[in-house]
This record gives sequence, C-alpha cells and structure tokens, in this order.
Amino acid sequence: MKKIIEKITEEMEKAFEKAGYDPSYARVTVSNRPDLCEYQCNGAMAAKKAYQKAPLQIAEEVAAAVDSAEILEEVTAVKPGFINIKVAKPFLADYLQQMYGDSRLSVDEAAEKKTVIIDYGGPNVAKPLHVGHLRSAIIGESIKRTGRFLGHKMIGDVHLGDWGLQMGLIITELRERKPELSYFDESYEGDYPKEAPFTISELEEIYPAASARSKEDEAYREKALTATHELQQGRRGYMALWNHIMNVSVSDLKANYKKLDVEFDLWKKESDAQPYIPDMIQKMKDEGFAYEDQGALIVDVKEETDTKEVPPCMLLKSDGASLYTTTDLATIVERMKLFHPDEILYVVDKRQEMHFIQVFRCARKTGLVNEDTKLSFLGFGTMNGKDGKPFKTRDGGVMRLENLIREIDQEMYKKIVENRSVKDTDAEKTAEIVGLSAIKYGDLSNQASKDYVFDIERFTSFEGNTGPYILYTIVRIKSILERFRQEGGVLEVGRLLSPVSDSEKSLMLETARFNGMVENAFEEKAPHKICSYIYELSNDFNRFYHETKILTEENQEQKLSWLILLDLVRKVLEQSIDLLGFSAPERM
Ligand code: ARG
Repeated sequence: MKKIIEKITEEMEKAFEKAGYDPSYARVTVSNRPDLCEYQCNGAMAAKKAYQKAPLQIAEEVAAAVDSAEILEEVTAVKPGFINIKVAKPFLADYLQQMYGDSRLSVDEAAEKKTVIIDYGGPNVAKPLHVGHLRSAIIGESIKRTGRFLGHKMIGDVHLGDWGLQMGLIITELRERKPELSYFDESYEGDYPKEAPFTISELEEIYPAASARSKEDEAYREKALTATHELQQGRRGYMALWNHIMNVSVSDLKANYKKLDVEFDLWKKESDAQPYIPDMIQKMKDEGFAYEDQGALIVDVKEETDTKEVPPCMLLKSDGASLYTTTDLATIVERMKLFHPDEILYVVDKRQEMHFIQVFRCARKTGLVNEDTKLSFLGFGTMNGKDGKPFKTRDGGVMRLENLIREIDQEMYKKIVENRSVKDTDAEKTAEIVGLSAIKYGDLSNQASKDYVFDIERFTSFEGNTGPYILYTIVRIKSILERFRQEGGVLEVGRLLSPVSDSEKSLMLETARFNGMVENAFEEKAPHKICSYIYELSNDFNRFYHETKILTEENQEQKLSWLILLDLVRKVLEQSIDLLGFSAPERM
C-alpha cells in the first residue's frame, strides 16, 4: 500500500505545480508541532532563493492552489513560510480500513529482494553464554525478522567461536588434570570414547581456570598456543576432544537461545572456514597483495584519507598460525561461494570495529567479494550495570545469561501475582513471556551503538517506555475485544468511520504510519525505531481509551468502528513486537 505521507506529498506536488513552482519542493514531513498540524511542508522556505520571493507568499499561493478536500482537510500558510497540513478524516478512515483488510497491514514486500547474511550471536564454544553475547542475539534477531517481513532473504548465522585460543586452553588444562587420557597419546591409533570426558558444568569451570592460569604462567600459555595450533593443523586426539567440546556446548547454547526466542538458520563456526584458508592465502600472495613482514604474512589496508591508524591485516603469524582475521576472511570466501549474498551484516560489539575495518578492506582489495556486495558492521555498545560499569553479578562476577533471565522472570512473577488477574497456574508462563519482553525491549529501545544501563526494576515496570507496558496495552485491547465477542458481537459487519475526537484522530494517524516506519527501521538497521513507534502508538491508544466509552456506546455503527480500530492497533502492535522478537500473553 502506498504510504500515507506519499499520498499527501502527491497532493502537495500538484499544488506547487499549479501555483507555478517546481513540485520537487513539495517534501512533506510529520509535523514537529502536533498541536498545530499533523504534517508539514517546508518547501516554500527552500524555494525562496530560486524564486526570489518571500516564503510566506509562496506558501500562501501553494495553500490556495490545493484543491483536494478529499485527502487534505486543511492546508494553511503560516509565518515565516511553513505550510501546515491536516489530513481529511474520511480519507484517514478509508486508509485504515484498507490496512485492516490487508494481511500485511499495509507493508509491501521490497521491490528488490536481497540476500543478506546476518552474522550475529557469535558465542564462543565452551565459555558460558554471558550478557555480553545478549545484545548481539537480541539486535540481530530483530533485524533478521524485520528484513524477512519485508521479503528479503535473511540468513542468520550464529558463527560460533570454536577455533581460537580457548580451545587450546581447555585442551591444555584437561591434559594437566588427566594426562592419562588417550587423546593426549600421539601414538594412540584406536577409536576414542563416545562419551566426553567432562560435563557442561565441568567445561564451564575448566575454561576460566585455564584462562586465569595462562595469564600468570608463561610456559602454560605457550602450551595452550601450541595446542591451539596443533588443533588447527588437525591433530587427531585434539580433534576428538574438540568434537566433544562442541557437542556438549552446542546443545547448551541451543537451549539458551531457545529461551530467548532467537533462532539461527545456520550453525556455522569459525573452523568451517579452515579449508578455504590455504587457497585464499595462496591467491593473495600470487596477486601480490600479501607479503611477509618480520615473519608474519600481512596485507596493507590503510588508505590515504584515514584519520586514524589502520594497521595492516595479519593473515598468518610467524609460527604459521591463522588468526581471527584469517578466519573472518575465509568465512567471507565460504559465504560468497555458498550463498552469493548481496550483503553480509555483522552485529558485533563496537569495540571490534577496527577488526572489521581491516577485514572489509582486505576482502575488497583482494577481490573476495563482488564490487556490489555490501559488507556492513553494526557495532553495539556495552550493557552496563546501574553503576555505569559493564554489567556484573552482585558478587562482581560475569553474569550468566541463564541467571539473568531467571532474575527477570522472578521479578515479573512477583508483579504478576500482585496484580492477581491471572490464575496462579498461568503466572509462571506469563512471567516468562513478559520477562522476555522486559529484557529485549530494554535493550532494543536504545540506539544499538550506545551503551545502556540494564535496570531490572525499570525494565520490568508496567509503566513508561518498557516491554511490559506495551504488552499490557495489547492485553488490554484483547480483553475488550474478548468481552465484546462474548456478548455475541461480530466485528466483520462494521467498518471504520471518521474519527470523532482529537485523541481518536491521533491514534489513527499514528497507526497509518506503520508501513513507513517498518521500511525505515530496516533501512537504518534501527530496531529502536520500532520501539519508539509502538510506545507512541500505545500512548495514543491509552489516551483514546481513557476518553472513550467504547463498549457502552449506544450507536452500534460507532461502537463497531472503534472496536475495529482497536483490533487494527492490536494487530500492528503484535506484528511490531514479533519484529522485535517477543510476543504477548493472553492475560497478565
Ligand atoms: N566470537 C566473537 C566474540 O565473542 C564474535 C564473533 C563475531 N563474528 C565474526 N564474524 N567475527 O567476540
């Protein structure tokens, strides 16, 4: 469906033309003075120079030239040359009626459908999933869903970190503890046991222990580096251990992501890129891009216009080991080969920005991607505690995701039970649903690149700019509709009438902006725009609801019209939260 702002713009273009001005000046925006008008056009100010005329005069001529009472109810020129616009009520009702009848709620699929690989989640195998990985999962999931809703082919890849030093550390620590295991015996040629020599909880204890020791014990660190390298070279016993580590942690990760309602299409991992490394490096050498520098193999990626130092991209260390960069480059090779994406989008902590600048430049320079393949980096900020420092547990440790979710759910449970509208049997399930909205909305309502404070109390509040407030609004609408239906009411026989109050018109105008908002949120990879939209919409709804006695309205046509409006608002809100990655309960 055409956007409402486009329809208004078309009318203004006609008016500019009719008054003798270039229609390209007829740009219309949502009013920033909603007390005065609904939309505005500042084109007369822009046209001042070209026509050597006072903007107010241009604005007046244009306003007088408008002859569509059908779409525009009122167009007025005001000092110093703004054009204020009010939308015609029957037109607005009609627009929403069409939206109501459209299964996509007025949002068209993109004319040009893209294949986008979205690299998000990025957990490291064998390390517990902690809050640091939360943001990537939440933001990435929302962008993926939004793109998919617009008809793009979005391929979400978790891109597990399974190939780095953490693996060497675990192997080394295991070896210290259980040297007798066959995995460490290089002369061993038999089969390895099917059962892993550790459980997930042991694994989660082993890694931090190893990591701490490697920081104090240089010889130990050397061993871990060697083990990492040997693993990467395919040493048999280590590969078998690696397989155990993978099996044990991947099932744990899957369970965690499921709780977050985050779903990946691909469970690829850094090691999958390994087979592409030798050819890629050979080619970079042959074509003169890669050269040796103090034993390491590097590609220069600095550019003349750089304002800060961009170090060369390192492909191989002097001992021949590959690096994070090498893996990311080879993963690009693999992705191009398997999926031919139009874009690869990385949703990663913004502190890794330099790494991605190097990788992207190197990939372009050496021709790993096509000229028109977009490589984008969405760097997100840190999630802080109330003290403004990176979020920690009460005793100062790294917060595990599971525990964080549990804390939120408990807090929600308390509130819901206090509310008492739900039978106890539902309360736990409801707390989980609402708790997820608290976490996700709390994160997504901030611009991704900014740091934010994770504040359980605020996020779980039923009032203010929070997930639970949005869900509360949806549930409220559902219960009104439910009561109407229980009394035998049928929505389908009614239709939307023109708004009769300011609050109703505001609600309708906001609802009509849905399609433009979704497109814009995807284009700018900005889920926070979806949040601001539904917050506004919920506020508009609640204002309207407090002012309007819906179910007791005597005029049946009017009552039906209001209920249809409510149902449409509910649909828009539910579609929006689905794009954000959560859902609403039946009651709360
Ligand atoms: N595993 C990495 C980390 O925890 C994030 C991976 C991001 N994706 C990528 N292709 N580098 O920092």
